[in-house]
Amino acid sequence: MLTKADVVERYLPSLLTASSEPVTCFAPSNIALCKYWGKREKELNLPVNSSLSISLGHLGTQTTLSLADVDQVWLNGERLTDDTPFARKVIAFIDLFRRDQAVTLKVDTRNNIPTAAGLASSASGFAALSLAINQFFALDLSDDVLSAFARMGSGSASRSLFQGFVEWERGQQEDGMDSFARPLAARWDTLRIGLVKVATGEKKVDSRSGMTRTLETASLYQAWPAQAARDISRLHSAISDKDFQLLGETAEHNALSMHATMIASWPPLIYWQPDSLAAMQKVWQLREQGIPIYFTMDAGPNLKLLFEAEHEADVLTAFGEIEVVNPFSAAP
Ligand code: PMV
Repeated sequence: MLTKADVVERYLPSLLTASSEPVTCFAPSNIALCKYWGKREKELNLPVNSSLSISLGHLGTQTTLSLADVDQVWLNGERLTDDTPFARKVIAFIDLFRRDQAVTLKVDTRNNIPTAAGLASSASGFAALSLAINQFFALDLSDDVLSAFARMGSGSASRSLFQGFVEWERGQQEDGMDSFARPLAARWDTLRIGLVKVATGEKKVDSRSGMTRTLETASLYQAWPAQAARDISRLHSAISDKDFQLLGETAEHNALSMHATMIASWPPLIYWQPDSLAAMQKVWQLREQGIPIYFTMDAGPNLKLLFEAEHEADVLTAFGEIEVVNPFSAAP
């Protein structure tokens, strides 16, 4: 079996040159419209299916790397102890690149995603870290390679290197170097995403264990790869025709189908809370009243609403003071 270190090694110079100046990079969060759910290979985070997402513009993670006397990981202005899971993951990722060379670093990670929005930050975190490592060690890696490396930190991080619509191709190769994301050229300036917080805080079952459990115990999962492939092609049509109904229906159906595979696992995996279902019902009521609004959900209780700018006022009236993102406002 190939390890992450085996794969990364091939792209590195034998001796690293570390920057004497701090390097800062930003990467956006992203929301999948066709989800990544299931790994065909766990060490390299290789997915069963391709996925397609929309990035959240200016919301994401900013990471600064600088030389320091000892390794230290900071999160939102606080130094973490070395044994926290986040610090351990970050240092293990950096080790892939510096190998046994004596370069000790300060990693300063800042998420500007409002904590109240209940969005995961591992995608933008590993994407920003990959960009910063590339620049700090002057590796000059291509976007494709960087996206494949970010994927080894967290699958969805492969998509967070880019703004706008992004597609992550599952790939075929054993080393996973054809499993990376690329941005689509299309823009959709009237598209809006509403972040509905149901609960924040650590979830009991992280996405890695959730995927394993689903693959091993849910026979419904067998239908998932074909549905994901169909949904990706629908999303391509929806994006090129600016067909909002097709985009929304595909994304909502895709998310609910993913959750159905989790619910069909054993022990059952249900990320929803009563308020998640209440928010879904509110979306369906609004649709009955003629307002085109859809939702998607990841491995957690929070909803992400999809609608167009002309309906923002109706959505705010129904959902109160939720964060609304214009994904293309900050995109290049
Ligand atoms: O990147 P991970 O390992 O956190 O998995 C992400 C899984 C989902 O958020 C549920 C779907 C997705 O494609 O982002």
